[in-house]
Amino acid sequence: MAVPSDGTGAAPSRPPPSGPGARRPGAGGGVLQRLPKGNLQNVIAVGSGKGGVGKSAVTVLLACELARQGKKVGILDADVTGPSVPKLLGLSGHLLDKGEGVEPAVTGKGLKVVSSQFLVEDEETPVIWRGPLVTRLIVQFFGGVNWGALDYLLLDMPPGTSDVPLTVFQTIPIDGMVFVTTPQELAGLIVKKAVNMARELHVTLLGLVENMATVKCPHCQKDFRPYGKGRARELAQEFDLPLLASLPIDPRISELGDEGKLEQYASPSVAGLASGFLQSLEESRKRTLTVL
Ligand SMILES: Nc1ncnc2c1ncn2[C@@H]1O[C@H](COP(=O)(O)OP(=O)(O)O)[C@@H](O)[C@H]1O
Ligand SMILES: [Mg+2]
Repeated sequence: MAVPSDGTGAAPSRPPPSGPGARRPGAGGGVLQRLPKGNLQNVIAVGSGKGGVGKSAVTVLLACELARQGKKVGILDADVTGPSVPKLLGLSGHLLDKGEGVEPAVTGKGLKVVSSQFLVEDEETPVIWRGPLVTRLIVQFFGGVNWGALDYLLLDMPPGTSDVPLTVFQTIPIDGMVFVTTPQELAGLIVKKAVNMARELHVTLLGLVENMATVKCPHCQKDFRPYGKGRARELAQEFDLPLLASLPIDPRISELGDEGKLEQYASPSVAGLASGFLQSLEESRKRTLTVL
């Protein structure tokens, strides 16, 4: 079991706002004073109502596609108790603190990654921490890591609506959030809760990603929907959000993920995801500028 002292041992250059100036969360979506963004151009949360919908895979696929387009990209694996980003990218080892903050791990194609997985002995050792420590670690990952100048820092959020995502939303300056859902996700009820929570906390929602929507028949090569029509489009309309992409079930995603080589996966639907995401982000920026 990983036993935390003060989290990573990192020297946070931007400490969590716990002083008297920090506002506490309250009913109606009170907002804590958020940390400064430094050289991070766009901080994007990727969330879901529950685990297992492919949130980490979508985070990694989007990050890799943005990197392929020449952007500087990092992933903060904020799913501290269920970290899977290192596995999907074939990263292992420990984080190095050279006395001036923690150095992220870097993949072959230049993605910078920080994860609680790098703090434990091996893949089977669980991180058994209480919520406040988990949140503190995420905040240290954000502020105490030498991310350098990034175009996009993607946060693979813990699923659900617990105190961890709550505090993360309130302390990290998130520019936009993408929700991942699947056609079978309890008719979208759980994702609704998560979307409503983000709205309550004034997090800008960029859109929904429907993962595992279709599958190609290996015999006739036709795409079909194994879980039926699904409600993603309806849900997106109900939330007044764009449906950024519908990704198919592709055995290559799980195979490459299991081999730690998901960085190699590219497809038209992943390219479509990135362009839907970039378009929605740009539109949300224009809206913000108009309001200002
Ligand atoms: N579109 C997809 N096609 C095939 N396998 C997928 C797809 N999306 C996710 N997976 C696989 O499903 C499993 C769960 O995905 P993961 O991203 O870990 O979910 P979450 O982060 O939501 O818990 C992983 O093994 C992943 O490789
Ligand atoms: Mg995950």
